[in-house]
This record gives sequence, structure tokens and C-alpha cells, in this order.
Amino acid sequence: MRQPEPYLTTIPPVIAALTDYEPYARARLDDNAWAYLHSGAADEITFRANREAFDRQCLQGRALVDMRGGHTRLNLFGHAFEHPILLAPVAYQSLFHPEGELATVRAAAAMDAGMVVSTLASHPLEEIASHAYAPLWFQLYVQPDREFTLDLVLRAEQAGYQALVVTVDAPLAGIRNREQRAGFRLPAGVSAVNLQGMRQSQTQLVEGQSVVFDGLMAHAPTWRDIEMLRAATQLPLILKGISSPLDAALALELGVDGLIVSNHGGRTLDTLPSTLELLPAIAATTQGRVPLLLDGGIRRGTDILKAIALGASAVLIGRPFIYGLATAGALGVAHVLRLLRDELEVAMALTGCRTLADITPAVLIANNT
Ligand code: FNR
Ligand code: LAC
Repeated sequence: MRQPEPYLTTIPPVIAALTDYEPYARARLDDNAWAYLHSGAADEITFRANREAFDRQCLQGRALVDMRGGHTRLNLFGHAFEHPILLAPVAYQSLFHPEGELATVRAAAAMDAGMVVSTLASHPLEEIASHAYAPLWFQLYVQPDREFTLDLVLRAEQAGYQALVVTVDAPLAGIRNREQRAGFRLPAGVSAVNLQGMRQSQTQLVEGQSVVFDGLMAHAPTWRDIEMLRAATQLPLILKGISSPLDAALALELGVDGLIVSNHGGRTLDTLPSTLELLPAIAATTQGRVPLLLDGGIRRGTDILKAIALGASAVLIGRPFIYGLATAGALGVAHVLRLLRDELEVAMALTGCRTLADITPAVLIANNT
């Protein structure tokens, strides 16, 4: 078997952009972890579309604008953020580096980045929170055992998490052929430790019943669970994985505080549109009543500018920070955040935007895509 490369302890100058991390991560991960990390659903059309949509969009440069006093600060759900880049929830981070989420949270603290911790984290949510010095949100996968689910929410509240992000686009895993072909399985020592002790649901299928509808989806969350969660917590409630304006409208009716426009990084339903294409219709529905965040394919500061121009308040990154984690632990994650923030500031300076509020559709050149 191929020996994995050692982790980097300094970052060489050849790593100048987020995508430069990808081959470094590949060289340090086995085929199993790589298949999980890299996988998109089915033919990976949505996975690729996320990037292509950013690349198609052109920017309108502006010259000779006084940029003094410019900054990237914003307020989200009552908390101050230095910049609009958050770390998306990514499960089982110990697959990618032995320190897993504990390395990620140290990097988030160092770079003033908000971090969203997955229900499927490989370290206890309380331990992760004890290292946090920047806003921390908890990502909830509603479990078949609703009592256990509410208990998780309570644990997150007690540990100081500042928002609850309920992921709604993955009630079951997508068709991930890349993972299937690689025979992906969680290695010994990596597990969803926060779900320990949960009662396993036992759905007995009878003749003629569907494994999907009557089995996997039997205990999947519905809008009733969102109502229940809205009543159960004072934390800002954010739905992640909204891709339909109809769902955005329903969420607002139920008193949801924010939405993450996401297609799960192209990992669940293939041939969904890119998130950049989904954003305008959702923004038209929500009319600025709640913050919209976006993830999927963000690799450049210019991507962030484009997302904000079309209605996002902030963005999240998934795979890129894991590439940094797999390459150099906390140092790699921090460097990924640094690169992206620097790129955003350069993009703002060259489009004449002193603050995030100055980023409007006017920074985009209307094209025919
Ligand atoms: C994810 N994502 C995810 N989302 C979520 O709500 N809970 C989770 O546990 C996970 N786990 C997870 C694992 C891995 C390996 C990946 C790559 C992604 C989705 C994630 O939060 C985010 O939506 C996408 O990763 C964003 O797309 P990019 O930045 O990876 O292109
Ligand atoms: C994933 C699940 C865990 O994308 O959200 O792998």
C-alpha cells in the first residue's frame, strides 16, 4: 500500500490558492477517505455545476475608488463576524487528520471564522466547543429518535453553540457511485460519537413495501419537526439545503431565522442546479427578511463577491478546508481561510466595494447565462 505523505508543518509558496491544496490532500489520504471527501452524487453534474456557475459570471471592475476604512465585517443573528466566510458542517473529520474537528476549531478561532459542527462530528460537541473563540453553530440531523434529537439540541445550547442549523436536503444519503466503487466504510476509531447511546430504530418492512419510502424515509423529518424545533429552542434556527423558493416561503412562515442555499456540495440529488443559479429566486422570495447563506463550489474570493452580489449575506466552504486539514492540520485550515479572505478583500478593492453592503448586482456584468 502507498505510504501517506507526512503532514506539512510550514506552508510552501507553491500553495497559493485553495485548489493548490487538493493534490496535497490526495497524497495524504487513503483511497477510502478520498472517495468520501471528493464524492458528488451519481454523475457529479451538480458538483461540477457549482463551480462552473461562478466561472461563467464576469465582474465589473471599478477604478480610482477611495478604499480607506474598508472592511469585511458583518452581523449575523445578533453576532459580529470579521468576515463572511464560515466553515460548513463536514462529518467525521478524524478521517482526514487525527485531530479532526479539534484542529478545525482552533483554526476557526485563529482566523475569526464561524464554524458549523456536524451532528456526525468525530469528537464530542462539548469538547469542540471548549476550544472555540469564534461563533460556533450546531448542525442537526434530525434522528429517528426525536427525544434523543431534542437532547442533542439541549446539549448544543448548554455547550454555548449560538445557532442551530438543521440540514433538510439529506434525509437519506444520495446515490454516491464514487463511494460505492471505492467500497467506502468508516475505519475503526472514527464514529459519530455524539450519537452514542441512541436507540436504533427498527422498521420491519412487510411484503410489497419500499426500502426507500417505508424504510429509510420512515422516520425522516418533515415540516412538523421544524415547527417542533422552533418551539423547542431560543437559538436562531437556520435551514440548510433549501433549493426551492416554495420551501423558502414555508420556512419563513414557520419562523425560521435564516436559510442556507445549498445542494450539499452536489452530494445528494444530482442535476440540481448550481447554488449560484438557485440563489436569485430564493432571494426574490425572502425579500431580505432573513439572512441567506450559500455554499457549494466556493474556491475564490471572487466567488464570494458574486454570491453576495446575488443576495447572500455570507458563504460556507466545505471540501477546501478539509483539503487544508488533511495537508497540515489546523495550520492548513487557517491558511485556507486566510487565502480566501485576502482574495475577497482584493476583489472588493478592484470592484470599488468598501464594505459588504456595497456589493450589489452592479458588480456583475449581466450576461446571457
Ligand atoms: C459534507 N456536508 C455536510 N453537510 C451537513 O449538513 N452535514 C454533514 O455532516 C456534512 N458532511 C459532509 C461531509 C463531506 C466530506 C463533505 C464534502 C460535505 C456538506 C457541506 O456542509 C457543504 O454543504 C458542502 O461541502 C459545500 O460544498 P463545497 O464547499 O464542498 O463545494
Ligand atoms: C455527507 C453527509 C454526512 O455529505 O452529510 O457525507
